[in-house]
Amino acid sequence: MEQLSLNIGEKSEVKVIASSAYQFRVELVKKVGKDDITGLIEVSKYLANKFGKQALLSKTNIHKYFNKDTLPFVARFKGEIIGYIIGVPLEHFKQNSWSHFDVNLGKYNTLYTYAFVMKEKYRRKGGYSKTLKRIYINWAKKQGSKFITGHVQQGISQGFTAQAEVVKIFPMWYGVKTPFEYYRRPLK
Ligand SMILES: CC(C)(COP(=O)(O)OP(=O)(O)OC[C@H]1O[C@@H](n2cnc3c(N)ncnc32)[C@H](O)[C@@H]1OP(=O)(O)O)[C@@H](O)C(=O)NCCC(=O)NCCS
Repeated sequence: MEQLSLNIGEKSEVKVIASSAYQFRVELVKKVGKDDITGLIEVSKYLANKFGKQALLSKTNIHKYFNKDTLPFVARFKGEIIGYIIGVPLEHFKQNSWSHFDVNLGKYNTLYTYAFVMKEKYRRKGGYSKTLKRIYINWAKKQGSKFITGHVQQGISQGFTAQAEVVKIFPMWYGVKTPFEYYRRPLK
C-alpha cells in the first residue's frame, strides 16, 4: 500500500479558478499532493456518513478519482479543504449495470457527478456549494461535455437552478434505503 503512495508529490498541483477576499477559493486539482490527502479523506467522511465506507477516499483509491481523465474541484476556506465535486466520464462506469440505462453511454458526451460534498458547517451558506457547482458545470461545458448526470436522493434534481430530467429511479442506492434518481442535465 505504501508503495503506491510513493508516487505522490509533496504539494498538490492546482489551478485556482476563483478566489474571494474572504479566503474562499475553488481549485481545479491537476495532481493530488501529500499535503491535501488528509484533508480530502476528512471531507469524504461526510459522504461515508451517508453512503457507507465505499465512499471514503484513501491513499490508495484517491488517484482513481483525481486524475487527468476526471474533473475534480476542491473548495477551500482559509486553506482548509471544505468540500469537493468530482466529474468522471460516464464510460468509466460501463462495468456498472446502472450506466447502461443511459442512452448516451459510449457517446463520450456525459460527465457523471461521482461526488459532491461539503463539510456540514459550510452548507447552505456563503454560496460555497453553489459556487463550487457552478464552476464545475462551466468547466464541463468548456471541456465539451454535453450532459451532466448523477445520482441524488429522489426529488433533489427538481431543486436545481437549471432544469434536469429524471432518467431513472433506483429504489436503493449503495446501502441507502431511500430512492435515488439518476438525472441528466443538458449543458447549453
Ligand atoms: C450535496 C451538498 C454538497 C449540497 O451542499 P449545500 O450547501 O447543502 O447546497 P445548497 O443548498 O447551497 O445548494 C447548492 C446546489 O447543490 C444542489 N444540491 C442540494 N443538495 C444536493 C444533493 N444532495 N445532491 C446534489 N446536489 C444537491 C442544489 O440544488 C443547488 O443546485 P443549484 O446551484 O443548481 O441551484 C451537501 O448537502 C452535502 O455535502 N451532502 C452530503 C453528501 C451528499 O449527499 N452528496 C450528494 C450525492 S454525491
